[in-house]
Amino acid sequence: MTMIHILNGPNLNLLGLREPHIYGHDTLASVEAMCQAKAKALGVEITFRQTNVEGELVNHIHEAREKAQGLIINAGAYTHTSIALHDAVKGVGLPTIEVHLSNVHAREAFRHHSYMAAAAKGVICGFGPQSYILALEGLAHILKQKEKA
Ligand code: DQA
Repeated sequence: MTMIHILNGPNLNLLGLREPHIYGHDTLASVEAMCQAKAKALGVEITFRQTNVEGELVNHIHEAREKAQGLIINAGAYTHTSIALHDAVKGVGLPTIEVHLSNVHAREAFRHHSYMAAAAKGVICGFGPQSYILALEGLAHILKQKEKA
């Protein structure tokens, strides 16, 4: 079965507690539950992970090369700083969707640039937890098309 790895970066473990006026009241566990339900409906499998450590995200991206067909990444603040994550996504060559809960373009200027975006197939932001669901739908579609080709 098609496997998609969903990776979450720094501070996303605090979802539900952290700046709820920006990120909402859902916890990361409830976002994972929503993703599991959507994955089931789409007929794909997911692995859902979070780490606050940049190098661990790099390792998770590398691991996906052998274990998954696609990636969904909310790299948190590393989105805006990490050439290492950009290189890792480029390096594994898996179709990758960048997601954000908030609309980063409507926020501080330092969130307007993403190192991930240039390595990603697509970017979804601003829909809260629904950003993950939209990313899953889009990526599952891309992977099904790939299978047919
Ligand atoms: C975020 C947006 C980032 O700018 C921020 O650093 C985060 C969360 C989001 O999901 O909206 O940690 O990735």
